[in-house]
Amino acid sequence: MESWYSFTWLRVSVPLTFLLPLLVVVVWTKVRNSATKRRPPGPTGWPVIGNMFDLGATPHQDLYKLRFKYGPVIWLKFGSVNTMVIQSPKAAAELFKNHDSTFCDRKVTEVMRSCSYNQGSLALSKYGPYWRIIRRLCSSELLVSKRVNSTAALREKCVQNMTRWIEDDSKASRASGGSGEVQISRFLLLMSFNVVGNLMLSRDLLEPQSDKGREFLDAMEMVMEFSVKPNVADFLPFLKWMDPMGIKRNMEHHMGRALKIVAEFVTERVQQKKHAGTEKVNKDFLDVLLEYDGDGKEGPHNISERNVTIIILEMFFAGSETTSSTIEWAMVELLCNPDSMRKVKEEINSIIGLDQKVEEKNMDELPYLQAVVKETLRLHPPVPLLVPRDATKDSNYMGYEIPKNTQVLVNAWAIGRDAESWDDPLSFKPERFLGKNIEYYGQHFELIPFGSGRRICVGFALGERVVHLALATLIQSFDWEVSNARSPEIADMTERMGITLRKLVPLKAIPTKRNSTQGSPINLSEILYSLMNTITLRAALGKKKEDQGTLKQLLKEVVDARGGFEVGYFFPSIKILPTKTGQKAKLEKIHRELDWILDGIVDGHKDRREAIKIGEGKGSEDLLDVLLRVQENGELEFPFTTENVKAIILVVVSMSTLASIKIGFDPKCRIYLRLYKFTMVASYITFLSKFILLKSTSDNT
Ligand code: HEM
Repeated sequence: MESWYSFTWLRVSVPLTFLLPLLVVVVWTKVRNSATKRRPPGPTGWPVIGNMFDLGATPHQDLYKLRFKYGPVIWLKFGSVNTMVIQSPKAAAELFKNHDSTFCDRKVTEVMRSCSYNQGSLALSKYGPYWRIIRRLCSSELLVSKRVNSTAALREKCVQNMTRWIEDDSKASRASGGSGEVQISRFLLLMSFNVVGNLMLSRDLLEPQSDKGREFLDAMEMVMEFSVKPNVADFLPFLKWMDPMGIKRNMEHHMGRALKIVAEFVTERVQQKKHAGTEKVNKDFLDVLLEYDGDGKEGPHNISERNVTIIILEMFFAGSETTSSTIEWAMVELLCNPDSMRKVKEEINSIIGLDQKVEEKNMDELPYLQAVVKETLRLHPPVPLLVPRDATKDSNYMGYEIPKNTQVLVNAWAIGRDAESWDDPLSFKPERFLGKNIEYYGQHFELIPFGSGRRICVGFALGERVVHLALATLIQSFDWEVSNARSPEIADMTERMGITLRKLVPLKAIPTKRNSTQGSPINLSEILYSLMNTITLRAALGKKKEDQGTLKQLLKEVVDARGGFEVGYFFPSIKILPTKTGQKAKLEKIHRELDWILDGIVDGHKDRREAIKIGEGKGSEDLLDVLLRVQENGELEFPFTTENVKAIILVVVSMSTLASIKIGFDPKCRIYLRLYKFTMVASYITFLSKFILLKSTSDNT
């Protein structure tokens, strides 16, 4: 009996041992499939951890690759977190146009709960009354054109400071035997920090040498670093209490430091307000937040000092790295695409010149610059997956069942590379935007670097102004060069994912100041060169291209050598004009060369005339020929030397050239120019009077 029982038990238990788990797996898979059959497609995840290991250090790139296998809407599971990824303009349009209210909450990571940051934050707060109040206050400060326009001078000041720092840093590098190379991103970040600091707190927070500034920047950099570290506690909530990777502990420390610094500014202002007798005229954002007085029906009566501190800190997070990384990418692309750099430079030269400072009001006249910024944001959106959204309820999106609390990532980086929307999507071609109505304000879903819908970036008007202004100023103020050793690393577009998407190897380039007030060798000579009146040259010197070219070249060299325009260089004998001490030798040398070239041209003409005389040459007469004929025939009864001939030619050529240069020089140059024109006319009149006088004298005798 016993043995039978044992045998029977063995016969039943052995298959059960193997079959039961199999059965469980089959049933579990069936149940799972029926529950997920209306989810978007995506790679199968591992039990418990899901797809956590499918994404690496640059998740937007990994997701972009998955698009080719699974299509534009992908489903993933990170531990227990359901995630939907949107990767095409069409899917984004559907999300933002028809489902925005369902997906307008934020997914808050564990680390951003440090110091209760998420409770005061605008970017991370739930879609509700608090968010609405703060958003409205921010919009009126950062989006309303009148308010943004009124602060243009502050931004222009910060950008000008940046160019000064770059110049100083480059000079210091040269002085210590270096190449003058600077790491642009450093100064861009300082500049954008100060822009935010001026708008929020009416103060420059950072000077490159300031200790307090350095401490703040350091704390902020650590906060940014920890805020994007992948944290297992986000995906496996039962580990939250343990903080197994120590990320939250570190964040508490650095966030605490940053909040403490901002809190000091806030407290200081609160004290000032208590003691101020009169109402402040120019209110900054801190005043607006502190003075908020709601009716309490929708949202709070007022905003606590703690939350004011968090909001101000957030503006530094949100507004500094985004703008500075965009400008750095734009510079990288322009340095890798010299043709685009040339075009944007020419546009700035012709519209603004070197003499005037770039101002925000100039931007409408710079379509190519605008196209460069759009193209940069298409290829390098600083927040490539936007800020994660959270589904507020169960919904049906594009035929898929999306449960409440699903995290939604919109891959703006992949959308900017969508082959159906963009020709040659991986190339940098600003021209694609010229004459097209494609904007990045959240209506054209193929270009959404600022996001779209209710949670679209609240600072985009400010961000776009800073990017355009700073980029135009960098291009106007300096000629940028990359050393040979650096060229490969500039062209290396490898990305690093922090709070924004940055270039892994920061851009380092050598700036050379294009200084208008000290005379601008390159610009002035370019203008001179391009405006040189070819017709006059032809009339004066004939068709011979070398003659025209040589004279043009000399005039160009004169300007280049001087770094400006000075009459004395052409006519050293004119003593009334200012010439700098120590430059006499150079001046005489240039004059000798000019003389020598004119001699060559005159000799060439004489030879040609001889050839025509003996029937070996042909050609019509130019002014020089006429003058030489007059000289040869002795038609004048007064001495008419080759020197006189050369003087007439030079006067005619220079006058026509200068007459065509009307605008764009600095005031000093304009004075020289007037003097020069005046002198030219005077010499011409003197020469003619001499001519007439001599002629009448000889007539009389
Ligand atoms: C080139 C510059 C900038 C870019 C590319 C950028 C991009 C973004 C993106 C993609 C979002 C998320 C949008 C979404 O979820 O749909 C965002 C949100 C936000 N941005 Fe910007 N941003 C820039 C500049 C700024 C500036 C200058 C500020 C303020 C000083 C700012 C403040 C914010 C805030 C507060 C949010 C959260 C809005 C909310 O959740 O309601 N941003 N930004």
